[in-house]
Amino acid sequence: MNANFFGLLNVCRSLFPLVRSCGRIVNMASTTGYMVFRGQINDDVRNRFRQVKEEQDVADLMTEFLECCKTECNTERKRCEWSYGVGKLGVILLSRIQADRISQDDSKHGILLNSCCPGFVLTDMTSDLPDNNFGGIRVSTVEGADTPVFLALLPSKVTEPNGKFLLRRKEYDFVNTDVLMQI
Ligand SMILES: NC(=O)c1ccc[n+]([C@@H]2O[C@H](COP(=O)([O-])OP(=O)(O)OC[C@H]3O[C@@H](n4cnc5c(N)ncnc54)[C@H](OP(=O)(O)O)[C@@H]3O)[C@@H](O)[C@H]2O)c1
Repeated sequence: MNANFFGLLNVCRSLFPLVRSCGRIVNMASTTGYMVFRGQINDDVRNRFRQVKEEQDVADLMTEFLECCKTECNTERKRCEWSYGVGKLGVILLSRIQADRISQDDSKHGILLNSCCPGFVLTDMTSDLPDNNFGGIRVSTVEGADTPVFLALLPSKVTEPNGKFLLRRKEYDFVNTDVLMQI
């Protein structure tokens, strides 16, 4: 949680002032955020995630999750115990808020900020998992880099996607729609 969510938040806060007009920001999230949102939290908590408006709202939910872990009340409160997925859900929601905020900054224009999942990619992080762990096919790092690089190289005249979550170059608004995702 510290590396994946709070680390990302802190780095963004430090680096955003340096991003120039038409800059591109790509936050690395994960489809596990979708898995948590759809399958591992109850309606109450899901609605609280839906209602976040400010960066701090997301950070507060992450902190609350950690507090629950400490007191081991996650199961009782039907929360997810999967900190990786919760942190990545936080990154997806945070990215939407950050994109909105940056577009309201009058001193810059044309910045696009999105989050994405690279797919199920063979890296150090996944090397001890079976190939079909998430029901999808594990891909090479070259294939995994496709969507992040696509987002980083969006041409300067393009205005979309912004604030979106993408997998294999496709947008998924799983927070507000019933769309299904397969990593
Ligand atoms: N692989 C997948 O299937 C997959 C799927 C969805 C999303 N992602 C996301 O893609 C991104 C890259 O993951 P990856 O698969 O390439 O993982 P990886 O091979 O394990 O690389 C993770 C990188 O993060 C660095 N790191 C880990 N903890 C850190 C910390 N506390 N502070 C600073 N750096 C830290 C590691 O540095 P060191 O090498 O120095 O340890 C390493 O360079 C991650 O955000 C991951 O969540 C990956």
